[in-house]
Amino acid sequence: MILKLTILPGDGIGPEVTEQAVLVLQAVADGFGHRLELQHKLIGAAALTAANDPLPSDTIQACLSSAAVLMGAVGSPEFDHYPNHLRPEAGLLRLRRELGAFANLRPAVLFPALEDCSPLRAEIVRGTDILIVRELLGGLYFGQPRSIEGAAGARLALNTMRYGETEIERIARVAFDLAMKRRRKVLSVDKANVLECSRLWREVVTRIAQGYPEVKLAHQYVDSAAMLLVQRPKDFDVILTENMFGDILSDQAGGVVGSLGLLASASIGGAVGLYEPVHGSAPDIAGKGIANPLGAILSVAMMLRHSFELEREAVCIEDTVGSVLTQGSRTADLAGKSQTAISTTEMGRQVVDAVKAAGSVNKEKSA
Ligand code: IPM
Ligand code: MG
Repeated sequence: MILKLTILPGDGIGPEVTEQAVLVLQAVADGFGHRLELQHKLIGAAALTAANDPLPSDTIQACLSSAAVLMGAVGSPEFDHYPNHLRPEAGLLRLRRELGAFANLRPAVLFPALEDCSPLRAEIVRGTDILIVRELLGGLYFGQPRSIEGAAGARLALNTMRYGETEIERIARVAFDLAMKRRRKVLSVDKANVLECSRLWREVVTRIAQGYPEVKLAHQYVDSAAMLLVQRPKDFDVILTENMFGDILSDQAGGVVGSLGLLASASIGGAVGLYEPVHGSAPDIAGKGIANPLGAILSVAMMLRHSFELEREAVCIEDTVGSVLTQGSRTADLAGKSQTAISTTEMGRQVVDAVKAAGSVNKEKSA
């Protein structure tokens, strides 16, 4: 198969982790007989610096003419005081919209080797396997009007939370469909005791659930869900929630399973899938070679699964990451006091080597 991709390294640690993810992808492609066609484009602060636009039109064109997009991260303190449309994040939000990527899947799985990396006791976190399904094109992120207006000292800031029934229906279907392939539990997270958006959300999700009699649906307010996520993480299967709540809970889930650096994501539902680690650009550690590339590497696995239906290839990456962690390899975010941390490139190299070793076993079997 030809895998035609646009690579958007982005800002901060984005380029470092993306480079390792692409090396792993190349190793998997070699092992399974696929050919990569890659083009690299700018997004975020990198694009603002080069072209004064966080999402230049040639980046959009490249993404729309690819089969999938792999992104690193966007964000830079340099642009913190710029107006909204001239911030790195605006590039990513526009890209999500251009691609029609309304469904953001964020798995948070505890690798058995990482029990000790969680701040929670092993018996609490053991067995955690959560899939957060986050609505990605609605809510406060995109609602109009939005503004900051008025004279200094008396300014008024405004954001709008807005959800339409069809928007809720389509993301609910994604969550229920995925739950059917898992443990058949959906927890819909909202704030229906306070927000109209959440009341409509709850009503529509309940209606969609009727088409999935085998899936057990429950509802939880977001504050209480945040508490339960640390108290009983293994009780969760699929979490279905709106854009902002999903943003917050997914970082929390990263903390629960040991490090945000491990979390991958897929943004799907539109013409072209977008794959990116859940973590940000982490300017504080950028350029030091210590970032964890596994979130980016696992995002490649999600890409192979969701955009190309290459399940064996996806599982190969996921198993390989598991075995590298089992051997004790740890980047700085995961290393305990008595452990030596390895660099971003060394972690990438170990995954590549393990993929190649698995590939030669495959070839021997089929020979
Ligand atoms: C994420 C990030 C983004 C978001 C930012 C960078 C715009 O935090 O993907 O979780 O809020 O969606
Ligand atoms: Mg986030």
